[in-house]
Amino acid sequence: MSEPKKLFIKTYGCQMNVYDSERMAEALGGQGYVETQSADDADMILLNTCHIREKAAEKVYSELGRFKGLKAEKPDLKIGVAGCVAQAEGEEIMRRQPLVDLVVGPQSYHRLPEMEAKTRQGAKALDTDFPEEDKFEQLKRRPKAKRGPTAFLTVQEGCDKFCAFCVVPYTRGAEVSRPVDRILSEARDLVERGVREITLLGQNVNAYHGAGPTGDMTLAQLIWQLDKIDGLERIRFTTSHPNDMGDDLIEAHGTCDKLMPYLHLPVQSGSDKILKRMNRSHTAESYLRLIERIRAARPDILMSGDFIVGFPEESEADFQATLDLVEEVRYGYAYSFKYSTRPGTPAAERPQVDPTEADDRLQRLQALITRDQRSVQDSMVGREVKVLFEKPGRLPGQMGGKSDYLHAVHVDDADVEVGDLRRVRIVDSAANSLRGVLA
Ligand code: 5AD
Ligand code: SF4
Repeated sequence: MSEPKKLFIKTYGCQMNVYDSERMAEALGGQGYVETQSADDADMILLNTCHIREKAAEKVYSELGRFKGLKAEKPDLKIGVAGCVAQAEGEEIMRRQPLVDLVVGPQSYHRLPEMEAKTRQGAKALDTDFPEEDKFEQLKRRPKAKRGPTAFLTVQEGCDKFCAFCVVPYTRGAEVSRPVDRILSEARDLVERGVREITLLGQNVNAYHGAGPTGDMTLAQLIWQLDKIDGLERIRFTTSHPNDMGDDLIEAHGTCDKLMPYLHLPVQSGSDKILKRMNRSHTAESYLRLIERIRAARPDILMSGDFIVGFPEESEADFQATLDLVEEVRYGYAYSFKYSTRPGTPAAERPQVDPTEADDRLQRLQALITRDQRSVQDSMVGREVKVLFEKPGRLPGQMGGKSDYLHAVHVDDADVEVGDLRRVRIVDSAANSLRGVLA
């Protein structure tokens, strides 16, 4: 048998890219590739890129430039660009960087094996189509390889919301939901391979409406189907839009034991003026009332969110409204970004906020968020939580995992193994993690 070829994938951006990278590795596994952790000994390098904020494309070009020496040493090395920069820049990448052999957009990953074969014949391969066929069905899976206790599973892709700042509707295309039976069979397969927690992924995951046996199912209905799978212990989903938080999904947070008490629900701003200009189709007040209803269903739910500061025409008063909203919600986790102009999006045409002012706002918002994150995390001390153990901790004898609320937890010298789901009493809270003892 010939030596397996080596594949190095570098993943940027969101969890969906992490999932996509796994599937690409599986697809190329059929071509005789095994993954390697180093670019130096690779026969193929794939950059799975993100286009959500500025400079992403520039980063890709500079990363590609660094492979020049490698390619000179190893003329057979193939270099590919995947993901949202590939989708957005396509031919431009081939033109600007002759090192690149292959450019593949997120909707065409199932065509990678043929594309790879084409590059082996010395040709270039480019595919940024939005094809009709179901790429998930066509992506080949490696036979029953054992895997860690947590996994991502894409159930929905694309977005029809067109927030005024966002490139996703252009790079990932229109909203598409995968059929229920295919998701269930993928989930069962993951569980057979050792997975106990599945995070359902979608750019607009709570808008899920995939075909079921008797018509379309909502995300909540899909979750109840997954709930029946023995051996699957935990279900999460991300990312959601406030306007798609259906009554059945809110209710499931109170009644489905496998559905974890954690919800990532981005609001982006606390100012109605800015929300309108962002084309968000909700107000700060409607968002706060929604959280009230979610907390009525599941009082201990940990809320998470995303914020953009310095959106065009954001005044100090608008920014203050964002701080007020954060104060009111008290997020357990929140991610904040400085507005980044994306050519082709409507907000790019509006008057921009002074960058120094935006930096200052970002710092103020992050200080407030850090304070809340820490106080929510500290409030776990003395409580008993369930932890799914994922990997040995940093120190010898330690084991680390995640609580139901997604806090990192480690225990010392305990008799636990990767994949164990155990009750843990939290005894201490440090900067980024909790320490506990088995209960
Ligand atoms: N500038 C800054 N942040 C952005 N996001 C999306 N587009 C932009 C942009 N142009 C943020 C939003 C979104 C998260 C994934 O990235 O907060 O929820
Ligand atoms: Fe982008 Fe999310 Fe808005 Fe869709 S809902 S346009 S993915 S920010």
